[in-house]
Amino acid sequence: MSRVLALSGSLRAASYHTQLLSCLQPLAPEGMHLSLFSGLGELPHFSEDLETDPPVPVRELWQAIADADGLIIATPEYNGAIPGVLKNALDWASRPRGASVLPGHAAMVLSASPGLFGGIRAQAQLREMFALLNVYVVGGPHHSRRPHPPRPHHRS
Ligand SMILES: Cc1cc2nc3c(=O)[nH]c(=O)nc-3n(C[C@H](O)[C@H](O)[C@H](O)COP(=O)(O)O)c2cc1C
Repeated sequence: MSRVLALSGSLRAASYHTQLLSCLQPLAPEGMHLSLFSGLGELPHFSEDLETDPPVPVRELWQAIADADGLIIATPEYNGAIPGVLKNALDWASRPRGASVLPGHAAMVLSASPGLFGGIRAQAQLREMFALLNVYVVGGPHHSRRPHPPRPHHRS
């Protein structure tokens, strides 16, 4: 059984991104269990001062990532960047230095932003951050918008 942990970058009750992840759960193929981590809003703001005795929500995040074989991140873009709540969670997940649970995980990055660029900047930032953290992002498909419809068939 492979285990995939899904994180939404939005805390909004009716979040499109959280809904997207919930819709993926029943689509998981046989042998894959997809669970949604819902504790991002409980995490304290990251501070190195808290690292020596991390609060329970931080330990829960670390455990959930450690238990997972892969990650799916669905996130909106706020002002051209990933939301603070997601950055905070990834900063926590990147610690303790040298003993983070993140390296080696595979990850998929999604956005359901209704904006013109479809959250492409937030996705690009996540890919850059994951490269630093040795998290391997699935390369494609990589559409910022709906793919073009097939070309009409021309008769000669
Ligand atoms: C503070 C703020 C900034 C936003 N900035 C962007 C942006 O830069 N690019 C974009 O595509 N959408 C932007 N949006 C629109 C969000 O993509 C949209 O509200 C989206 O539905 C939020 O995701 P959610 O439905 O999962 O909460 C912004 C929304 C907020 C609240």
